[in-house]
Amino acid sequence: MASYDLVVIGTGPGGYVCAIRAAQLGLKVAVVEKNATLGGTCLNVGCMPSKALLHASELFEEAGHSFAKMGIKVPAPEIDLPAMMNFKQQGIDGNVKGVEFLMKKNKIDVLVGKGKVLGTGKLQVTGNDGAAQTVETKNIVIATGSDIARLKGIEIDETRIVSSTGALSLEKVPSSLLVVGAGVIGLELGSVWRRLGAKVTVVEFLDRILPGMDGEIAKQFQRILEKQGFAFKLGAKVTGVDTSGATLSATIEPAAGGAAEKIEADVVLVAIGRVPYTDGLGLQEAGVVLDNRGRVQIDHHFATSVPGVYAIGDVVAGPMLAHKAEDEGVAVAEILAGQAGHVNYDVIPGVVYTTPEVASVGKTEDELKQAGTAYTVGKFPFTANGRSKVNQTTDGFVKILADAKTDRVLGAHIIGREAGEMIHEAAVLMEFGGSAEDLARTCHAHPTRSEAVKEAALAVGKRAIHM
Ligand code: FAD
Ligand code: NAI
Repeated sequence: MASYDLVVIGTGPGGYVCAIRAAQLGLKVAVVEKNATLGGTCLNVGCMPSKALLHASELFEEAGHSFAKMGIKVPAPEIDLPAMMNFKQQGIDGNVKGVEFLMKKNKIDVLVGKGKVLGTGKLQVTGNDGAAQTVETKNIVIATGSDIARLKGIEIDETRIVSSTGALSLEKVPSSLLVVGAGVIGLELGSVWRRLGAKVTVVEFLDRILPGMDGEIAKQFQRILEKQGFAFKLGAKVTGVDTSGATLSATIEPAAGGAAEKIEADVVLVAIGRVPYTDGLGLQEAGVVLDNRGRVQIDHHFATSVPGVYAIGDVVAGPMLAHKAEDEGVAVAEILAGQAGHVNYDVIPGVVYTTPEVASVGKTEDELKQAGTAYTVGKFPFTANGRSKVNQTTDGFVKILADAKTDRVLGAHIIGREAGEMIHEAAVLMEFGGSAEDLARTCHAHPTRSEAVKEAALAVGKRAIHM
């Protein structure tokens, strides 16, 4: 019988990173994966394919709308969707192969099949042929991720009524797309298909988009998306989709109750969140306790209720983000190797990879108000940033929130091109407990968009230069 120090179930960003870190620290490690390819949701049907399509569709839109004003004459661009999907697949394959290589490089065994926890020190792996093997291991890390959340009464067929997975592989550009949920998936994938020609309507239950993000940022972002052609129906829910006709007919009701209306669409994308995935893991029999939302319950050291069994990533509480899963993977591996692994949940950036991007780290203004924290705000618009002006990409602004007494930066929020790259200077600053003054006095290269971050920090002290 095979025997290990650590077996990780699932090879998403949480699982494979955990396995690598544990192997680096000298543990004998195996991973279990039920899918044909490694890399989990993120690499196969999540972060990576969505970013490939966001990139390609953005360039398509630029070629059609922005090139001419810069004096670049090209014929009207045409979409070759199979080629675009091939570009996406090449990106997926490259990353998946990269993980396979890293498993080999770090001498991590890959056990293909479905993992089931039998209890402390033991799990079962059932291959696709049905053959089961028992594996002994000192420790188990559950990193089985999440699955799409479904809407009652609306069946996802991944062709006309799709989840994110189907929306990443549509065979033709729909003339109309109805998105249920104005969260990250709805706005990213809505952007992809809008740029490629679909008329996109987003129905959101709440009275705002992007719940959890700073309210002011979300409001301005909604206006920018509306300028791009998005239509929003906020405070509304989809209660049914009639599939009998050539086009789908969705019934929309006000969230607070009232008269229903119908919206026709070629494709409906259901993007109302994700749920932890624990199917067939045998957790109940093994005595692993779940919380009231079906997530594996863990303590501050990622330990479940069963000794020697740990859990990380989307299957546990916290933001469902690849980098959060990765950092938890590293932390638990270090703990298992006798080190002091730790994740700082106060400094986990979140990025929406639209154009412009939305990026956020730390507390929102709404959270600070709710907590009664005295704070100061510094804001700087990209319309006043030289580089953004010359490139004519001035949508958005930077907002820095600092403690009113200590000046310590508590949150940073950016809408703008490359916001997802810029947010990290705020993240590093916050990780070191830095102040707005520290940021304001750090020399920033000119001309860069990042100067807007410095100016926002200067604005905390009411002394922005270019405003
Ligand atoms: P997963 O990546 O879900 O991996 C879990 C793995 O476990 C899977 O491979 C699964 O097959 C395997 N597994 C499950 N059960 C078993 C079992 N019993 N036996 C064996 N194997 C099993 N996050 C970001 O940070 N940035 C983004 O840009 C981003 N974009 C996204 C876009 C989309 C469309 C979606 C859907 C998600 C996106 N996410 C993004 C979220 C991100 O994908 C997840 O947060 C991340 O994948 C979670 O990692 P994980 O390791 O916990 O689980
Ligand atoms: P989400 O939680 O971001 O958004 C779901 C939205 O649907 C919310 O605004 C919610 O209020 C709304 N909603 C829920 N039920 C509804 C209903 N019945 N009718 C109308 N609206 C309803 O979830 P999403 O977009 O599905 O993404 C899932 C996860 O994947 C997120 O947790 C996110 O962190 C992750 N992800 C991250 C990305 C990134 O980091 N760039 C990209 C894509 C996904």
